[in-house]
Amino acid sequence: MCGIIAYTGARPAGPILLDGLRHLEYRGYDSSGIALALEGPELYVERVTGKIAGLVRRVEGRLPEATAGVGHTRWATHGEPSERNAHPLTDPERRVAIVHNGIVENHEELRASLGDGACFSSDTDTEVLAHLVARELAQGADALEAVRLALGRTSGAFSLVAMPRDEPGRLIAARVGHAGGVVVGHGEGEHLLASDLGALLPHTRRVAFLEPGELADVRPEGVRYVDAGGAELTKAVEEQSVGAVALVKGRHRHFLAKELHEQPDAVLDVLRGRYLSDPPRVELAGIPFDEEGARALRRVVLVGMGTSLLACSVGRHYIERFARLPAEVDNASEFRYRRPVLDPQTLVISVSQSGETADTLAAMEEARAAGCPQITVCNTPGAQATRVADGTVYLRAGPEISVASTKCLTTSIAALHAIALHLGRLTGQLEPELEAQQVRAALHLPAAVGEALELEAQVAGIAERYARYQNFLFLGRGLSYPMAMEGALKLKELSYIHAEGYPAGEMKHGPIALVDESVPTVAIALRDEVFEKMRSNIEQLRARRGPVIAIVSAGDRSLDGHVEECIELPAVDPLLSPVVSVVPMQLLAYHIALERGADVDQPRNLAKTVTVE
Ligand code: AGP
Repeated sequence: MCGIIAYTGARPAGPILLDGLRHLEYRGYDSSGIALALEGPELYVERVTGKIAGLVRRVEGRLPEATAGVGHTRWATHGEPSERNAHPLTDPERRVAIVHNGIVENHEELRASLGDGACFSSDTDTEVLAHLVARELAQGADALEAVRLALGRTSGAFSLVAMPRDEPGRLIAARVGHAGGVVVGHGEGEHLLASDLGALLPHTRRVAFLEPGELADVRPEGVRYVDAGGAELTKAVEEQSVGAVALVKGRHRHFLAKELHEQPDAVLDVLRGRYLSDPPRVELAGIPFDEEGARALRRVVLVGMGTSLLACSVGRHYIERFARLPAEVDNASEFRYRRPVLDPQTLVISVSQSGETADTLAAMEEARAAGCPQITVCNTPGAQATRVADGTVYLRAGPEISVASTKCLTTSIAALHAIALHLGRLTGQLEPELEAQQVRAALHLPAAVGEALELEAQVAGIAERYARYQNFLFLGRGLSYPMAMEGALKLKELSYIHAEGYPAGEMKHGPIALVDESVPTVAIALRDEVFEKMRSNIEQLRARRGPVIAIVSAGDRSLDGHVEECIELPAVDPLLSPVVSVVPMQLLAYHIALERGADVDQPRNLAKTVTVE
């Protein structure tokens, strides 16, 4: 996750930026840099790969006098980690310095649109932003207008801070889509910008959060907010508590809400440096075998518990689709006692957010005893699972405090998608066109997950209407079946309502006996090859007066009037739909739990990690 820090005021900007970068080190990075706005005017830029200590050594004692500047820690998405790809980036004439966090999805076409005359010094999507803004400035646009016009040509989910050379002391911040937030710190005669609250608190507790589509025109004497159309905005400046817990929760009431809303960034980070765009491909560290080892594999078994087991159920589809290897999913607590048939040609993939779940660890030991190669998908560096497996694919989702897992589910699915694509390329079973198409689709996920979070107001209304029901069904088919199970699990564990997830094809084999007006069903009915089957299931439910909450594909109005509630997802590739379809169900479970006054972050009887059987 990239880090942004910026300052404008009366104090020397350099030391403030370097200190801010140290606050951001926890986010992980492979390069860093700062830019200062000097009288002249001119821009001073220094960037290094590796640790911030290297940047400090580079500039210590030689920082020019400046009272405005921007700083950045980068974790590469587009363009390998290097000094030339480190931020801040400028246009060739150094009219503007840009720091950026997120993905400009249409950067390649924008780069092409700038023409052969455009001289690029990096492989980054960020540099395209610098060129676009500089061109507007060169045509006489005001700095705020230049950024606003440039962003109007972009698509994706990202945040940026632009520092125009010709107006020392002025900073323009902007947020597009949901990934990569920007917090504005309101000081006395000074203002700061940062990608997270912690970097601002040493200077001020008065902050405002930029929402998607908003821009801030920041000067020492004040901040002006506008929307993407340029209309003035009035933003609330909130006094932040500096308590540690409050600091981590930020603006959210619960860790669950914070982690739910971190998903665009978390998905961006699990993709970062693994899904590359030029040419589109997946490159994954942590895979413990080469092409020969992959081609020796005859089968894959995925194991986990709870939500992580449901991620395995999605991953199985990917393994069979991309690597053409038989794949099966097993509940780790069953696997460990079943004396499973295993051999060194069986790849065992475990998924565990904590990496400490007793049953999952026991299943891994069973696999180790049989000589199986193992990969674990884990969110916790150094966890036991990472020491048992031959290779680890980290989720990089940051701490997940709430007992109910949200961001670690969506990132686990993305990680399994990456593993399956990587495996498919090693086994030679993955067509390059499919790999490229899936990489492009995955790079859209942060934006799509962010758009799904915009359903929160609608879902909160549904939660208010359905919070008093005592039983729910969740139905899905194909890739949506594990998501139906996850929706049921979230509702169970957060609100203590009895909820069952089923493959919709099972309805006639028993569950439909439960259905009447007292049992609502959440039906995931996406426009895929089984949509008509789902529509038929929905009609069967309605015929028995069962209320239906349908989750449908973008633009699909065919169920309007046939169901009580219709939640329309943003556009997403069908194979990646689980990462997005789960979001409204996470929100539904959260808001029903709020309606019922449940203890959202620590539900009764549950622990975050089940380290015993
Ligand atoms: C999910 O919301 C639950 N907290 C629980 O099912 C969890 O997924 C399960 O205990 C597995 O935990 P792990 O991912 O740390 O192994």
